[in-house]
Amino acid sequence: MDVRIVEVGPRDGLQNETAVVPTNVKIELINRLSQAGLRFIEASSFVDPRWIPQLADAAEVLGGIARQPGVAYSALVPNLRGLERARGTALAEIAVFMSASESHNRKNINKSIAETYPVLEEVVQEAKRMGLRVRGYVSTVFGCPYEGDVPVSAAVKVTERLLNMGVYEVSIGDTIGVATPKQVREKFAVLVKAFTPGRLAAHFHDTRGTGLANVTAALDEGICTFDSSLGGLGGCPYAPGAAGNISTEDLVYLLHGMGYRTGVDLERLAEAGQYIQSRLGRQLPSRMLQAHCAAKRTSEGGDSSWR
Ligand code: HMG
Ligand code: MG
Repeated sequence: MDVRIVEVGPRDGLQNETAVVPTNVKIELINRLSQAGLRFIEASSFVDPRWIPQLADAAEVLGGIARQPGVAYSALVPNLRGLERARGTALAEIAVFMSASESHNRKNINKSIAETYPVLEEVVQEAKRMGLRVRGYVSTVFGCPYEGDVPVSAAVKVTERLLNMGVYEVSIGDTIGVATPKQVREKFAVLVKAFTPGRLAAHFHDTRGTGLANVTAALDEGICTFDSSLGGLGGCPYAPGAAGNISTEDLVYLLHGMGYRTGVDLERLAEAGQYIQSRLGRQLPSRMLQAHCAAKRTSEGGDSSWR
């Protein structure tokens, strides 16, 4: 069986790095991801650069990548101003985003949930006129940093509104990485019943180490699209304490071992992980990446550096 992986490292990962990564490094990262076989890459974000300065160079990044046939490059777009900035770039898709909880929605995009719908509606309509596919995100489905528990009914309501607007899929976000497999099963059982698994994806952050266990729980509920970040980069700057997404290397290792096909070359992926780790100058959380680096050190004669 095939599992679709949406690589969000260049966006979700780099938006949360304190250092601003040079544009040429972002371009090289995206090229290495496509060469490793990833077919869906969220490359950047056309949000207000005063909110996310790390991704202010979205247009330059999209202008610089070596576009691979068959790869869908995407970016976050919060409003028509963002869509205008995205016009004419290499995008095949955009993604709109909002939260299941009121407080996170306000902190993240400065609007109530009710005020957000018409903004996203006009983005989806105009994007479709431009020939772009549109994906949707719902954040804080498994818990909100400001409100705690979030009822599944809130996620159902927002997901339904996004699908009715015309997004092809909604990615269900554990923004702060609090979910456990039991909760994943329970919430996805409700969501799958309401919308079918083919319209849903899972977006897990690995803040508390439950990310891959949550993937297996979501697979059991029929989900077969997962978001992940190379090296486990990532977070959300408007969700305090949110750590990185599940790592793409760890996800691919898990899926291949379970007999799923992803189309990703794990060796090339780990090389890409090593590239961005060395450019960031810090060890990334991916366990598979660290195993890859350790195996390379051994074969190269025992250099103790993780680089
Ligand atoms: P706002 O300040 O309410 O916007 O921000 P506004 O419409 O009132 O406009 C104010 C000014 O901003 C205007 O300029 C606009 O032109 C400008 P002025 O007239 O004052 O000079 N502006 C823009 N400039 C450039 N690009 C734009 C843009 N929009 C307005 N797109 C806004 C509202 C949504 C823009 C802001 O809150 C924002 O950018 N938020 C983004 C925050 C963000 O990126 N968070 C992280 C991504 S979400 C996430 O990580 C979760 C996810 O991974 C899933 C999960 O984990 O759950 C997806
Ligand atoms: Mg996220």
